[in-house]
Amino acid sequence: MPVRAAPTIMPGYLPRKYAMSRIDELMCKMTLPEKLGQLTMTAAGYAVTGPIIAGDSTEAIKTGAIGNLLNLIGPGPIHEMQRLAVEESRLGIPLLIGLDIIHGHRTLFPIPLGEAALFDRDAWTLTARASAVEAAADGLALTFAPMLDVSRDPRWGRTAEGPGEDPWLGAQIAAAKVRGFQGGGLACADSLAACAKHFCAYGPVTAGREYAAVDISERTLREIHLPAFAAAVKAGVATVMPAFTDLNGIPMTAHTALLRDTLRGEFGFDGVLISDYNAIGELIRHGVAADLAEAAALALKAGIDIDMMADAYRKGLPVALERGLVTMEQIDTAVRRVLALKERLDLFDDPYRRGSQPEDQETVGRRRLLARSIAARAAVLLKNDRDTLPLAKVRRLALIGPLADAPAEMRGPWWAAGVPEGQVSVLAGLSRELEGIEVLHAPGSAIVGDDCGHIAAAVELCDHVDAIVLCLGEGANMSGEAASRACPELPGPQRTLAEAVLDRAHGMGKRVTAILFSGRPLIVPWLAERADALLAAWFLGSETGPALADILAGRVSPSGRTPVTWPRALGQVPIFFGQRPSGRPADPKDHFTSKYLDVPNEPLYPFGHGLGYGRLVQSNLRVAPDSVTESGTIEVKVDVTNEGAHSAVETVFLFTRDKLASVARPLLELRGFAKVELRPGETGTVRLSLPAAELRFLGADLAPVFEPGEVEILVGPCADRSRLLVGSVRLLA
Ligand code: GLC
Repeated sequence: MPVRAAPTIMPGYLPRKYAMSRIDELMCKMTLPEKLGQLTMTAAGYAVTGPIIAGDSTEAIKTGAIGNLLNLIGPGPIHEMQRLAVEESRLGIPLLIGLDIIHGHRTLFPIPLGEAALFDRDAWTLTARASAVEAAADGLALTFAPMLDVSRDPRWGRTAEGPGEDPWLGAQIAAAKVRGFQGGGLACADSLAACAKHFCAYGPVTAGREYAAVDISERTLREIHLPAFAAAVKAGVATVMPAFTDLNGIPMTAHTALLRDTLRGEFGFDGVLISDYNAIGELIRHGVAADLAEAAALALKAGIDIDMMADAYRKGLPVALERGLVTMEQIDTAVRRVLALKERLDLFDDPYRRGSQPEDQETVGRRRLLARSIAARAAVLLKNDRDTLPLAKVRRLALIGPLADAPAEMRGPWWAAGVPEGQVSVLAGLSRELEGIEVLHAPGSAIVGDDCGHIAAAVELCDHVDAIVLCLGEGANMSGEAASRACPELPGPQRTLAEAVLDRAHGMGKRVTAILFSGRPLIVPWLAERADALLAAWFLGSETGPALADILAGRVSPSGRTPVTWPRALGQVPIFFGQRPSGRPADPKDHFTSKYLDVPNEPLYPFGHGLGYGRLVQSNLRVAPDSVTESGTIEVKVDVTNEGAHSAVETVFLFTRDKLASVARPLLELRGFAKVELRPGETGTVRLSLPAAELRFLGADLAPVFEPGEVEILVGPCADRSRLLVGSVRLLA
């Protein structure tokens, strides 16, 4: 048998299919420490986002022992670290540098829970785009956002960072944010690699306690906690970060089934998996790894590519290799994914492009105007008795409360590069932007503590003004990570302050507007009862003051709609609109039905609730066709009339209810939303299209099914069935 001659390869010429790619060449050259360096991400000290603080990484970057950084802020430091890697390391592999740009970089937008209240995909994309431009101008190439954890428990502090309580809404936000951060493509100088986090089901931590175990059904996992991540992957998200938590006993950082089979297999994710901060090392505390080598092996085999701040890969994988727990091929696969991401980000060909062009002041100014507009649209007017707002016939205003003159607190959690000096407080904004109104201020109390010594002075201020605005709520660090609250009410002496002010003001027939700053729905039924107007301001970011001035002055009609249900009592939690029916639905006249003895089932405010300055009435629901197959589309129309005296924006929600199916189906499922702005007296028609295929659901075996039968189509201003217009459509096999 003649030996087939090897193909003749002329010197200098290599047929394309034999060409060594840049990555192939690097893989051939890299030592094991250099490979493990590419799988290591270390924190610089410009922000503290975890329990371990790294030392100086300079030498490790030069030797290639660290290939990625986080928490580095400023074009100078970023350029210098990048220069060390590119110009002083043996192979010159550029660093991937990331930061938690969760709701803005230096210019802060409302926290994600507040932005969710806009119900505006374009706005969600726009703020992510603006944040990416600002962060890339600093030299950053990765953000650890969007955070996509659905939450139905206000005790959990990270409710602030997420999309609220609904999976469909979470999926809309996921796609919009990935598009915004990644822009025209990862190679663009103003694009960031986005990071869908925290995969998955982090929201239902036991008792709302941070980092606690999670036990949920496979149905809840698939119906509630996976859709947003599937949407992020479909939108092309470059990276994913697993949650710290265990899911039904398996820590997400080692969850091979969900990371490999579901995320990479079923969803088709081909990007980079970045562990959360020290999460690989914490597999030891989870009790599934005896030491760092076992922890590193579990994570690598589950598909985690980058080890953030555990040093498990650098220190553990060499030992794991010796023990035969992992193979060099598994390590190489992870290294290739990391190098491929750096190549997609164009870091090899132009490592200094991000950060090379300082922004001009016009760009910065435009972004601040955007922040002001978005902030005004994120606030949710929960109550407005007797049209207390917008302020009218007010010459002197008392601004009272610990959050009135607190610029740093307006940032909310995850302020990244947003420094206190860059934030405009309520006092500064109202004083500057409420023409013709004198603003008098008294803090009245601190945010926390028990000092009531300054309440009297604040109450006394009520005697000298026409109206009162209370600024109450949480500090910026009372929500976000590691900020669960067992009693998510108004903290400290603020209730005492508020009740004293309400007593005095109402005793003089003066109206009180309460503005709440929080990273969660607060349990404040007493305040909702007594305040004349109640505005949920979440944390509105850098332009808080001017945005609230725009609302109070009536320049902007509030249009935010709450993306979370507001409980009347903590005992109702978890409370959300998408609950399944009971066999004994609540009936006040029947003892043996699903209710509490001491609290009504109804929330304080339902999902989607929010008032404006108009009086908007929805009517004349039309649903066509009467019946539809899976390939068809359901067209929904509803008229909206503004019967008020102010222009206003209405958000129309589309829900469905499948009353008879092979499994029990939720009482309401959110399927769409649309907004319309109407002048006084104007009527508009809102149109919504719903592909019938979206009415598939998970059958008894958790496989998607499309079942014939009648489905209710419900349209209205919020997830309160008593306020919805009801139609129906018949699904045909
Ligand atoms: C934190 C958070 C995560 C963040 C990461 C980097 O612990 O859990 O959301 O992106 O560490 O700061």
